[in-house]
Amino acid sequence: MTNEQIKALIADLSIEEKAGQLLQVAGNFYDKDSLTTGALDYFKITDKELELTGSILSISGAEKLKKIQDECMAKQPHHIPQVFMLDIINGYETIYPVPMAQGASFNPDMAKKCAAMAAIEGSAAGIHVTFSPMVDLVRDARWGRVMESTGEDSYLNGVLGAAMVEGYQGDDIKSKGKMGACVKHFAAYGGAEGGRDYDTVELSERTLREEYLPAYKACIDDGVKLVMTSFNTIKHVPAAGNKWLMKKVLRDEMGFDGMLISDYGAIVEMVNHNIAKDEVQAAELSINAGVDMDMMSLCYVHGLKKLLEEGKISQEMIDEAVFRVLSLKNELGLFDNPYKDASAEDEKKYILCDEHRKLAMEAAMDSFVLLENDDKMLPLSKDESVCFVGPFVDSKKVYGSWTFPSNDDSIVSIRQGIENIGAKNVSYAQGSQFLSNNMKLKNGEILTYDDEAKEKLLKEAVDAAKSSSKAVVCIGEHAQFTGEAASRTNITIPEEQMELLRAVSEVNENVVTLVVNGRPLELAEGKKLSKAVMVVWFPGTETGNAIANVIYGNNEPGGRVPMSFPYTVGQEPCYYNRLKSGRPNNGTLEQGYVMGYIDQIDKMLYPFGYGKTYTEFEYSTVEIEEKTGEEKPVLTLDKTLTASVVITNKGQREGTETVQMYVQDLFGSVCRPVKQLRGFEKVTLAPGESKKVSFVIKEEMLRFYNIDMEYTSEAGDFKVYIGPDSETDNFAEFVI
Ligand code: GLC
Repeated sequence: MTNEQIKALIADLSIEEKAGQLLQVAGNFYDKDSLTTGALDYFKITDKELELTGSILSISGAEKLKKIQDECMAKQPHHIPQVFMLDIINGYETIYPVPMAQGASFNPDMAKKCAAMAAIEGSAAGIHVTFSPMVDLVRDARWGRVMESTGEDSYLNGVLGAAMVEGYQGDDIKSKGKMGACVKHFAAYGGAEGGRDYDTVELSERTLREEYLPAYKACIDDGVKLVMTSFNTIKHVPAAGNKWLMKKVLRDEMGFDGMLISDYGAIVEMVNHNIAKDEVQAAELSINAGVDMDMMSLCYVHGLKKLLEEGKISQEMIDEAVFRVLSLKNELGLFDNPYKDASAEDEKKYILCDEHRKLAMEAAMDSFVLLENDDKMLPLSKDESVCFVGPFVDSKKVYGSWTFPSNDDSIVSIRQGIENIGAKNVSYAQGSQFLSNNMKLKNGEILTYDDEAKEKLLKEAVDAAKSSSKAVVCIGEHAQFTGEAASRTNITIPEEQMELLRAVSEVNENVVTLVVNGRPLELAEGKKLSKAVMVVWFPGTETGNAIANVIYGNNEPGGRVPMSFPYTVGQEPCYYNRLKSGRPNNGTLEQGYVMGYIDQIDKMLYPFGYGKTYTEFEYSTVEIEEKTGEEKPVLTLDKTLTASVVITNKGQREGTETVQMYVQDLFGSVCRPVKQLRGFEKVTLAPGESKKVSFVIKEEMLRFYNIDMEYTSEAGDFKVYIGPDSETDNFAEFVI
């Protein structure tokens, strides 16, 4: 349809039909087997209201959605098609690593390929829009949803988020195997105080604009079709009703003209926020803020007609929102083909096909972070006697809390992966439960078992470790301990599992600890008890094959730390690009009146960007090609500089290094971060091979909000660092 035809259709709609098009309802109201991603009991929708709904979330399946589409269109007075949306976060049925792991890969090409694969599977299952990418900046590992983010750096999050948008959407969302993407949660949901989900976000406008907004903008600049509001407040106004954030920042400054959807119930929740006395006033705040669709709240359906009659809002405001919703449906081609790509035949052809599984495995291997590897404990040799112990050895819950594979049989466990690779002389033992006795899970389940069973498990593992040359201990986070509504006051590995690690390390000195996790965890004790430590995150469908290939050396771990690992949760929030302080800390406890703690060195156990490989890389000093004589090279508005290093593989095997480039503004009209990531490149070198790696420095990389809140760079002295992680001190100097 043309825009004129859409506008003509809108003119023909009743106010009830218009309000219905602005409502999104959970699939549970159409199919009791639908997924549930939020509460349902508060949502008292009538049959008539349900008939006029414009969109459905959290339900999938080609035949099921075609049937629902037929039924809904038949009831719609103007037979307008539904738009189906789903949280396809790290895969539809073929599950690749959680976003935090994708952040560790520092690999936008891989992120794009994975998103494209997910779009093929999800669109075959009838999905038109995914609620991804989530690019919320995260600095506090207590927040359960850090698992859904790609980490603590806004530049990295923007590069990966934009790559995912391209993967999902391609050049035209109407194309087969493509779908709309929805960047979320706008804005700064990851800044919740104390890491407490849904809590207040208290940020200066400077920090909001410099650190939290750029990644959303990168996705908007890349053409993302939808934006989702966050639950939290910004400047004490909930995002879903925040006119400054949504109209001035999102629409006017960032130029976003696509569809803005609220998060689940976020509009009606403004009553709880005590900023709306009822759902009608909540509707007024949101429609004035330019929120187009009301996910799982009836504020628009119950409030817009009343607001219009009272003259508090205009018909144009309503029509503008309806226009964006119908334009999205039109861009998806739904008026011509309401089923889009839904096809049972394509579901069979694409879902979990070998090509998709292979990609999921590659993505997983590229995300593993090797933190310790004393005595070259890894890679293992297939002839060594090795025991694999821990609750994750046979677990299938290794895909994160925002993916919903239809059955766990598609998941390759660690044991299955080790068997597939043909390792001989291996033994297995569960060793412990996931959690301490009587621990209650998010879904209300309580794990209970008796002490006798616990002792038996432990003894089996210790006996296996006694008779093996190496012990691989597979421990970590229960899947229900990460994700939404899963904030924690501690970030430890459950005590049951630590008891197993301690017991095994007492009888075997060659311990390799594999950590399955969605967030940074406290690993200081694990490091002491192990010769090798590798974080594998939640790797997804090909968990076992990916782990087997990496620990037996067919591939190497490609990841680097995307979010700081502190020694202890007491150090949170943590991030590398901090300001310096008037009393900077020198990383020890022997000091007087300086920033930090008296009981913990103020350093990270593993800093942003850190990770080992199976070889060693050597960096030359940083050279700036434009440097002549003793003068510092000059960067101008129209003249860039090129900074380079030569890296050499000093080891005995091929390896890939994630070379990182940071800048530092040494002096500004406001205090400036000690470093900021502005480039990275993954470089693969054969043993002994050297390569020059160059980064172009542009003036725009150095812009910030100055003392007058003007977005600009300032003349002065700068450093450019190039190294293996954010603690590198390999730099060259230049001036603007
Ligand atoms: C949830 C989440 C959001 C998700 C939405 C739909 O509450 O906050 O990330 O996309 O609801 O499931």
